Amino acid sequence: MEQPVKGQVAIVTGAGQGIGRAIALRLSLDGMSLVLADLQGDAVARVAAEIHAGGGEAIALPLNILHAEDRQRMIETALSTFHRFDALVNNAGVQRIALPLDVNEEHWDLVMNVNAKATYFCCQLALKHMIEQRSGRIVNIASIAGKMASTTYHPIYNASKAAVLATTKTLALYAARYGVRVNAVCPGMIETPMQDAVDREVARITGQAPAEVRAERNARIPLGYMGDGADAAAIVSFLVGPDSRYMTGQALNADGGVLTY
Ligand SMILES: NC(=O)c1ccc[n+]([C@@H]2O[C@H](COP(=O)([O-])OP(=O)(O)OC[C@H]3O[C@@H](n4cnc5c(N)ncnc54)[C@H](O)[C@@H]3O)[C@@H](O)[C@H]2O)c1
Repeated sequence: MEQPVKGQVAIVTGAGQGIGRAIALRLSLDGMSLVLADLQGDAVARVAAEIHAGGGEAIALPLNILHAEDRQRMIETALSTFHRFDALVNNAGVQRIALPLDVNEEHWDLVMNVNAKATYFCCQLALKHMIEQRSGRIVNIASIAGKMASTTYHPIYNASKAAVLATTKTLALYAARYGVRVNAVCPGMIETPMQDAVDREVARITGQAPAEVRAERNARIPLGYMGDGADAAAIVSFLVGPDSRYMTGQALNADGGVLTY
């Protein structure tokens, strides 16, 4: 396999499970050395061990991206451990299920702070370094929920992912003249622990079984099945790599055909 990014260094947030884990494994296969950041120290250590077992390089970094000093530590760890920093994947995210009239300010604060605010400030820190070195790529994991009201069960999540898309476009416009690219991936329905929790929570509200919620959702996916973390990770790999060199400010869907824009 050709490895145009071999020897380069990426940071992946939320790398302990789900899509973040899949991104970490994929970028390692691409030949990158990785800083794996996650709130769950045990989980992210297991992913780093998987990568080591496959002959790759990764360091597990337990942290909370809500904290400015943790975000700073993440960048410093990449530079002190691997002596370079080429790509940031902002994947960490949270979800809260509640209908529009039941949402409360606690939901708003948590979901907006993790998904929108922390993503913005991780981008800001990374850009300071990348602009100085006149190269770098950032990939933000948004969602099709940022482009459409994919469901009414998580209004704040939808707003937070629209903010990630606005952040992506604005920072792409700003960073382009310095040779730094900023793009987004919009996953649709991907099999992860987050998606399992969503099914359980929606089922609690509707009185259905989680399997029924899932079956109804899958029936709305043109390709007919949920995606795997690797499906989103493949798009991240493309956006981090040189084949996407003429793309910035884009938001690519990995959703089985749900959205066509
Ligand atoms: N699963 C889907 O169908 C789907 C669809 C669209 C978008 N997404 C997005 O993809 C990303 C990953 O989703 P997933 O389904 O793998 O979720 P997940 O809940 O399975 O994993 C998210 C990871 O982020 C970590 N995390 C959460 N808050 C953190 C914090 N404050 N600091 C550090 N780490 C933190 C968690 O510990 C967890 O390991 C999220 O941004 C999510 O919104 C997922």
